[in-house]
Amino acid sequence: MAAAAAAAAASTPVKSGPVPFKDIDDGSVPEHTPKEEFSDLVTGLPCRHLSISELRLYQGFWLSAHWVPGTVVFQRRFTPRPDDVILASPPKCGTTWLKALAFAVAARGAYPPTCAGHPLRRLNPHDCIPFIEDVFAGGEEAKLDLLPSPRLMNTHLPYTLLPETVTSGGCCRVVYICRDLKDMVVSMWHFFGPSLPGLSFDDMFESVCDGTAGFGPVWDHVLTYWRASVAHPDRVLFLKYEDLLRDPAHNVRRLTKFMAQPFSAAEEAAGAVAAVVELCSFDNMKGLEVNKTGTSGAYVGYARDSFFRKGIAGDWANHMTPEMAARLDDIARDKFRGTGLTFT
Ligand code: A3P
Repeated sequence: MAAAAAAAAASTPVKSGPVPFKDIDDGSVPEHTPKEEFSDLVTGLPCRHLSISELRLYQGFWLSAHWVPGTVVFQRRFTPRPDDVILASPPKCGTTWLKALAFAVAARGAYPPTCAGHPLRRLNPHDCIPFIEDVFAGGEEAKLDLLPSPRLMNTHLPYTLLPETVTSGGCCRVVYICRDLKDMVVSMWHFFGPSLPGLSFDDMFESVCDGTAGFGPVWDHVLTYWRASVAHPDRVLFLKYEDLLRDPAHNVRRLTKFMAQPFSAAEEAAGAVAAVVELCSFDNMKGLEVNKTGTSGAYVGYARDSFFRKGIAGDWANHMTPEMAARLDDIARDKFRGTGLTFT
């Protein structure tokens, strides 16, 4: 089946993109960064701290101070291309998985998912797809111009903070992923906790509940994309991590259709969907040598193995009291009431 999948995928038209971001990134750092350009704007914004992390309230959301200037430049100067795909998410909600899946399906013409030389076997998904805030905060946006189309990029910004060029025109598709807020808190705690001295699980939980955790309030974040996906289903695809766990193949097909790259009958028959799912599966990704060592991320270099923890739904039960779980569920129910959005 693997050979047939490779043959079928190889028969689809080869596009020039996407190519892994790491392969076009020469490591050069520009002299002038937006950090200096917008420092007055940043210092004028409401501020709070989560341990050593400085957050600023920008257009209704708590962003890491480091990323505010980059966000402003992104909003003002980003020029989308019609076939750009932006992957969006709150932190710790399945970004890495979505990046792997989107890259695997978009690049399958050049790189069949079963091929030994697949970029996802030598690079972490975060090194294949650039994190927009990081790129702009570092003043490195010119590197995005080097990416051949179709470009894949990701952001943790809410929909309302994306550039108008992205949200108002017929340009660009956006794929969003989120998850049950309780599992998000647990995942945040394990991922960010070690770099935030003195921060307890309760502190992390409280910051999510009061809306001040990074990129929060998370319910507003989710609703910006939910509403956009309802209003413009052709432009915004809304995915849930739990749905992907339950039925990855179905959701991979949804993703490819949305990205206007549906699997052909030959690919379907050859098992290409299963091959993509397998390539990007938690066990496969976690087991790859490249994901066991080193770091990814420009501003903070996160250990690559920390992106792959448990990869399940419901781990909150091992970390929260029933009262904490009920409190967060009540917040979600209250905030999402009447919108049609549920996490069950
Ligand atoms: P847990 O901490 O609950 O295990 P993000 O990529 O947005 O940082 O989200 C990280 C979460 O996604 C972590 O959840 C991580 O284990 C999980 N994850 C990463 N890769 C995955 C994959 N291929 N399949 C399923 N879950 C994955």
